Amino acid sequence: QAQLSGRDFLTLADYSKEEITYLLQLAKEIKQKKKQGEVYQPLKGKVLGLIFEKSSTRTRVSFEVGIYQLGGTGLFLSSKDIQIGRGEPISDTAKVLSGYLDGIMIRTFAQLDVEELAENASIPVINGLTDLYHPCQVLADLQTIEEVKGSLEDIKIAYIGDGNNMAHSLMLGAAKMGMHFSTAAPEGYLPDAAVVEKAKAIGGDSSEITITTDPIEAIKDADVVYTDVWASMGQESEQKAREKLFASYQVNAELLQHAKPDYTFMHCLPAHRGEEVTAEIIDGNHSVVFQEAENRLHAQKALMVALMG
Ligand code: CP
Ligand code: NVA
Repeated sequence: QAQLSGRDFLTLADYSKEEITYLLQLAKEIKQKKKQGEVYQPLKGKVLGLIFEKSSTRTRVSFEVGIYQLGGTGLFLSSKDIQIGRGEPISDTAKVLSGYLDGIMIRTFAQLDVEELAENASIPVINGLTDLYHPCQVLADLQTIEEVKGSLEDIKIAYIGDGNNMAHSLMLGAAKMGMHFSTAAPEGYLPDAAVVEKAKAIGGDSSEITITTDPIEAIKDADVVYTDVWASMGQESEQKAREKLFASYQVNAELLQHAKPDYTFMHCLPAHRGEEVTAEIIDGNHSVVFQEAENRLHAQKALMVALMG
């Protein structure tokens, strides 16, 4: 039994392989209960605050529905409406909210802001996406890979596209679980060197990590092919320039000839058909993007039970 009660969830780097395995097992059980119509409410009376400084469909809805199904309540706090948006210090906000809530999920720009919130809060803080990381997504992704492939063992994930929050968290998740990870992007858009170093240190001999500008090299013999938008939230002004730069990194039928024949296609969503992936592929029979999106609900319910229970 993992000791996760009261912990923050800011990056997968903070969690051991055993703790992640425990969360994945709990997510599986919680999903089974839901499918069997079993009522499971270990968080009765608990309230999760959800601070959003960026848009969201999946993260907001899966956390709000998840805490409700667990017997608690979610409180949506747009940063436009709370005083944080008018300059109230993060540390004061953390201390005030700790007096009311049982947990905070935050989606914002700087990872440092999330860390500051967590340092000053006496309740668990969950990272619902920053510019640097998106650990909740990767928890659901690992659950999905396990469902589809039967196990995480010997799986190679190829992430083709921008070296962003998704690339970083996937790479750390793969390294933690002893999976192989390769990624390709144009020079200047590869993952952050410090995160790559961290992942390599975590993965050691059990996880092979490849960083390249060649998409064919990266996708070679991949079991899982993953991509994400070329311009993330906050980079809207770079959209046009990035479309040109990333054109040869599109995940399409031609590139996928180099992956394993039984490859699985994944995407955190939202997706841009015709940009990072063709409609044929994301809507094709190797794609599990909606199973992956649903698993956000189950994986985050497990996370809330473990941290807030
Ligand atoms: N994948 C994901 O986090 O989606 P949202 O931006 O809709 O929350
Ligand atoms: N990289 C994307 C992920 C969205 C879920 C972004 O940050 O906008």
